Amino acid sequence: MTSTLTPAQASPETSSDAAAASQQEITGEIDAISAEYAATATVPETMPRLDYPPYRSSILRHPTKDPHHADPETVELFAPVFGHQDVDALEADLTIAHRGEPVGERIIVTGRVLDGDGRPVAHQLVEIWQANAAGRYIHKRDQHPAPIDPNFTGVGRCLTDADGTYRFTTIKPGPYPWRNHFNAWRPAHIHFSLFGTDFTQRMITQMYFPGDPLFALDPIYQSIVDPRARERLVAAYDHDVTEHEWSTGYRWDVVLTGSQRTWMEPETTA
Ligand SMILES: [Fe+2]
Repeated sequence: MTSTLTPAQASPETSSDAAAASQQEITGEIDAISAEYAATATVPETMPRLDYPPYRSSILRHPTKDPHHADPETVELFAPVFGHQDVDALEADLTIAHRGEPVGERIIVTGRVLDGDGRPVAHQLVEIWQANAAGRYIHKRDQHPAPIDPNFTGVGRCLTDADGTYRFTTIKPGPYPWRNHFNAWRPAHIHFSLFGTDFTQRMITQMYFPGDPLFALDPIYQSIVDPRARERLVAAYDHDVTEHEWSTGYRWDVVLTGSQRTWMEPETTA
């Protein structure tokens, strides 16, 4: 059946943004930057570009002047300190926070947090937040017409064990629209935050799922112009993590330093 709605009628939240770029235009910009990088790069560029024009708000999202370094307050050097008394083991299961079962594909996400020499980072606080299976966050700024799941809040946390391993049970998030350009959709992802031993060591990044058809179209994912660097943000399906008649499993390691490190973002993004 052919819809009689124009895109603007179907998506009133974007109808006033007549100047918004099309996906074709954004993809063209992404491809041009990728081709230029492939032709000229002499060393891998593993960090995201702060000014990445296809990601329209990137220019507004970082300092334009040299940062002024200030000594952190003393308390920030030893707080927070997280221990097993502070983080309940049940907080690592995002599917049991409410009375009923959330809708969607139950998944286990696990991996190790390692330093640049491959040593485990033990007792690290790992926090995650994510959209539900329909791609909806419980957040006042997320008003797109996908259902909220009353049995899924989408936040969880755990501590890495002595081997640096974290493990969550959750629901596979759906892709969701955002307003970078017309008909813009984010690949499915889980936001990760990792704390060290103090507030100055917090790092934030996103984990993606293998084979997502939106990778090539997404200017946030593509703002890491080196293909191998951005592929390190993609988890691997792992059948050894998958549990019989219960859950599929994904494995994703986080390397904090060194040439193989996982890219971390300076601020939370969409
Ligand atoms: Fe997100």
